[in-house]
This record gives sequence, structure tokens and C-alpha cells, in this order.
Amino acid sequence: MFIHGSAGVGKTHLAVAYLVREIQSKGEASRVFIRSVDLMNRLRDSFRSSYNQAASEIIGDYSRYRFLVIDDLGAERHTDLVQEAMYDILDFRSGHRLPTVITSNFSLDRVAEHYGDFGERIVSRIAGMGETMRLLGKDRRWQK
Ligand SMILES: Nc1ncnc2c1ncn2[C@@H]1O[C@H](COP(=O)(O)OP(=O)(O)OP(=O)(O)O)[C@@H](O)[C@H]1O
Ligand SMILES: [Mg+2]
Repeated sequence: MFIHGSAGVGKTHLAVAYLVREIQSKGEASRVFIRSVDLMNRLRDSFRSSYNQAASEIIGDYSRYRFLVIDDLGAERHTDLVQEAMYDILDFRSGHRLPTVITSNFSLDRVAEHYGDFGERIVSRIAGMGETMRLLGKDRRWQK
């Protein structure tokens, strides 16, 4: 599922609700929430130090989790590494029909632009995996 909309409308809240429901019915193992910024920072770090987990292992883990929330897709800086890693993860997950909830401030068109050469293929996989939902409303953080 792809949930998009402007700041504070409740995208992360809704994605976490899906994750909690999943954990309550099937258990915690292999059911994971990550912000895309943190995922990409972990990947970058993996290139900097040999003590860190290898990038391929990180990509392998996030490709295979039984249920994954990727929060704030598109908020990370886009480099070739980031674009390719996101493609790898989503290609595997869509191919294996692994449930994935993605939130973003971007619509799918803008996600496609953000991911450069991989954009069209990333968006094709996201859209093909399930529903696209646009959340409307006010910023719940401060608007009444
Ligand atoms: N259905 C809801 N009921 C009550 N509170 C909610 C609901 N949805 C969101 N909120 C609250 O509103 C605030 C903003 O929600 P959230 O963080 O999910 O927004 P977001 O769309 O992810 O924003 P951003 O684009 O900035 O990440 C949070 O404090 C959240 O707990
Ligand atoms: Mg959010």
C-alpha cells in the first residue's frame, strides 16, 4: 500500500496502525518499521566502515522481512546507491508479494522523478503491489 499526502495528515500513524494489527495477529518476528532516511544512512555507513554490516546484507534483510513499513519515501537524499538499493528492495518484495506499506509526501509521479533512472520501475512496482491512497486533511500537529 502506498499512502501519500501533505505533512501531518496521519500517514505514519496509519502505516503504524497496519503494522500493529499485523503484529497482533501474527507476532513480531520479521515485521519491521523503518524511515527511508535511516535505511539509506545505514547503507551509506556500510560502505564507510568494514565493521558495519555489508550493504548487500542490509538490502537482503529489508527485501525479505515478512511485513515492512517504509516511512517517508523520497525524504532521503538521492544518490545512485540509494536509488538502486530502493529498487532492489522493492523489486524483490513485489516479486515475492511481501506486504509493504510505504508512506510519502510525494505522489507517485514525484517519486518517479526522485528516483531518476530507477524512478519509473520503482513506481511501477509500488503501484502494482497494491492500493494507492491519498490522505487529505489538515496538519494534525497544529491545525484545528
Ligand atoms: N487518526 C488519528 N487519530 C488521532 N491522531 C492522529 C491520527 N492520525 C494522526 N494523528 C496524529 O497526528 C500527528 C501527525 O500524524 P503523522 O505523524 O502520522 O503525520 P504524517 O502524515 O506522517 O506527517 P509527515 O508527512 O510530516 O510525516 C501525530 O501526532 C499523530 O499521532
Ligand atoms: Mg510521517
